[in-house]
Amino acid sequence: MVDVTIVGSGIAGLFVAIRSARAGQTVALVTKQRLSDSSTNFAQGGIAGVLDRNDGDALEAHVKDTLEAGGGIGNEKIIRMVVEEAAVRIQDLIDEGVNFHKNDSGNYDLAMEGGHNERRILHAKDATGAEIERALITACLNEQRVTIYEDCLALDLILDDRTSNDRKVVGLWCLKSDSTVFTLPSRAVVLATGGAGQLWRQTTNPSVATGDGIAMAVRAGAAVRDLEFVQFHPTSYSNGTTKSFLISEAVRGDGAVLMTEEDLTNWRAAKQSDQNANPNDFSFMRHADKRGSLATRDIVARAADAELKRSGRRHVLLVTEHLDAEHLAQRFPTIAQKLTDVRIEIGIDPIPVAPAAHYIVGGLAVNEWGEVKQRDLTIDEQTCTSLSGGMLEGLFAIGETACTGLHGANRLASNSLLEAVVFSHRAGVRLQEWLATQGEEKTGLPDWRADGLDNLQEHAPLVHDRAELRSTMSDDMGLVKSGWRMNRASRRLTLLDDEIDRIWRRCLPTREVVELRNMVQLAQMVTAASLKRKENIGLHYNLDLNKKI
Ligand code: SIN
Repeated sequence: MVDVTIVGSGIAGLFVAIRSARAGQTVALVTKQRLSDSSTNFAQGGIAGVLDRNDGDALEAHVKDTLEAGGGIGNEKIIRMVVEEAAVRIQDLIDEGVNFHKNDSGNYDLAMEGGHNERRILHAKDATGAEIERALITACLNEQRVTIYEDCLALDLILDDRTSNDRKVVGLWCLKSDSTVFTLPSRAVVLATGGAGQLWRQTTNPSVATGDGIAMAVRAGAAVRDLEFVQFHPTSYSNGTTKSFLISEAVRGDGAVLMTEEDLTNWRAAKQSDQNANPNDFSFMRHADKRGSLATRDIVARAADAELKRSGRRHVLLVTEHLDAEHLAQRFPTIAQKLTDVRIEIGIDPIPVAPAAHYIVGGLAVNEWGEVKQRDLTIDEQTCTSLSGGMLEGLFAIGETACTGLHGANRLASNSLLEAVVFSHRAGVRLQEWLATQGEEKTGLPDWRADGLDNLQEHAPLVHDRAELRSTMSDDMGLVKSGWRMNRASRRLTLLDDEIDRIWRRCLPTREVVELRNMVQLAQMVTAASLKRKENIGLHYNLDLNKKI
């Protein structure tokens, strides 16, 4: 029996693991692949935060931008809390050895991204997440009390009494890479499993992002919220053949402009007579928002999507030829290298980009300490949103897996690493308090029930079903939704749910089976939440609700 099991090894999971170990707790850190296989590792842009806690105006401006990006429905109390705690938590990261980039004067270089009215984003060039991950993994490996389980997939949470309405989590079952299942008794469990971009065909997320934590907690009785708000990043490299990759919004923060082929032709023609012709005046984005290419992601991604539908092309263009190529290559070395690999030079060639699933704003409903809310189990609803009024004892969720209310209907760029570290700290504090109040540990947890289950002989149908799921979510549940497409998605997902359920009842679990089961379950909740939302706000846009983009 360990004090706490943490599932997931991105910024949120690693940070709380380090904190818990230093507080004297024994920690099991379970991660699906290697420690570094997390969405954090792919985060390019940075971490937003006001470094001077006494600068009231700057704090207020960050609150305002976060609220506005979220369509005004973010939880203002949570927003203020996160914005105010930013400086201390960013300092914690620096103390753990994270090297944020400094300018020639020795001050932190602050970047700009869509929806921000001020420069407040700390970064490590275009590999901020990788730098955070490097420092936190190093710190975590130095903690004797942390036992790491790599290549280990959490299957399901174990409850002390599954029939009770006051449920408590007492451990979990995990699947090892050799396909055996083991029981991990634990006084508390923290879910930090990241997002679920793999539900869509085009995504900036790594292959591990299949929504496991959300699905597992819902099966144990947790409530979710805001799952209809799925963020698509407007600028994922896309040439239709090569694997796509993220082109950070910070590139637009440094002046890059989105254009169609026609916009680019017109701008280049205008430059013949006026060298100073402003590229923004030729961008399709000028019709969508006065902030042009630096509007919030919901607006930019929908405008790009509309252009793709109008033109029938696979991509729009991110234009950088008016910028200093040498500066861009230095500021964005990872992106520049990836582009060179596909024979594109940053600062010279237009970059083909398209929207891709990037971040799931909704997730497990948590309070300000990351404790997971229980849902009302007497109500049978696909959205799984009705609250029981109580907590799912012993369960915490942090990072993208959780929905804290910070983002409202749309996440402001670079607020997610901030949210993760603030809530990771808070969950660590509450975890200690909570563990101190707990009596005798529960012993003799049940083993995973494998009697009568066979090895799955053929994985081919699963591969097909996974592709079918991703097509359904991309075609029917993408950036722009409509009633009939959402209902179509719902029907198709019911069929997939039935298929995976048949396999689940009959066969021993494999990673493919477990992930598909989780993905289908989450896809159904995303669809149900989208059908229920009756107004277009932030990332939720239903054509039938008849509002302009
Ligand atoms: C980016 O660099 O554009 C991604 C940052 C984020 O998702 O906040």
